[in-house]
Amino acid sequence: MPYKLLFVCLGNICRSPSAENIMSHLIDQAGLSGSIFCDSAGTSSYHIGSPPDRRMSAAATAKLGIQLRGRARQFAKSDFQEFDLILAMDQDNYNDILTLDPTGKYHGKVRLMCEFCTQHNLKEVPDPYYGGVEGFNQVIDLLVDACEGLLEKITKQQI
Ligand code: 4NP
Repeated sequence: MPYKLLFVCLGNICRSPSAENIMSHLIDQAGLSGSIFCDSAGTSSYHIGSPPDRRMSAAATAKLGIQLRGRARQFAKSDFQEFDLILAMDQDNYNDILTLDPTGKYHGKVRLMCEFCTQHNLKEVPDPYYGGVEGFNQVIDLLVDACEGLLEKITKQQI
């Protein structure tokens, strides 16, 4: 059984699809695609079925040469059982996820993505949706850092 990661933001069109695709890219490069599986979801229903935001895709292609694949879906309670680790992009996402787990049974599976950064000090991946191109570039930089840190922890079995 692969180790299953779920990346979660608000809309599932900017930050979490970037995290999912960057992590999958790193996993492929490491030859671990059979061992670690990635998906993403949004806490909101705003963009269900939509592809990643064009501005986010442009930043991912410009900075990393990768395409962002996938369609937005909403986080569901069944994801708590389905996934081994759930990575929230910001504190609101984290709180919204835990609201769906009132008994706290799955609390230990839910983490903030920036915990895994080693090169950046930000505690959250900022929402780029209403800002300019620099915000999208910053999301990519932060997520590369966090995904590298996360992959290292997983491969060293420190999670
Ligand atoms: P995301 O960005 O949570 O990183 O996908 C957003 C996408 C859409 C909205 C907000 C943030 N929105 O308000 O529609």
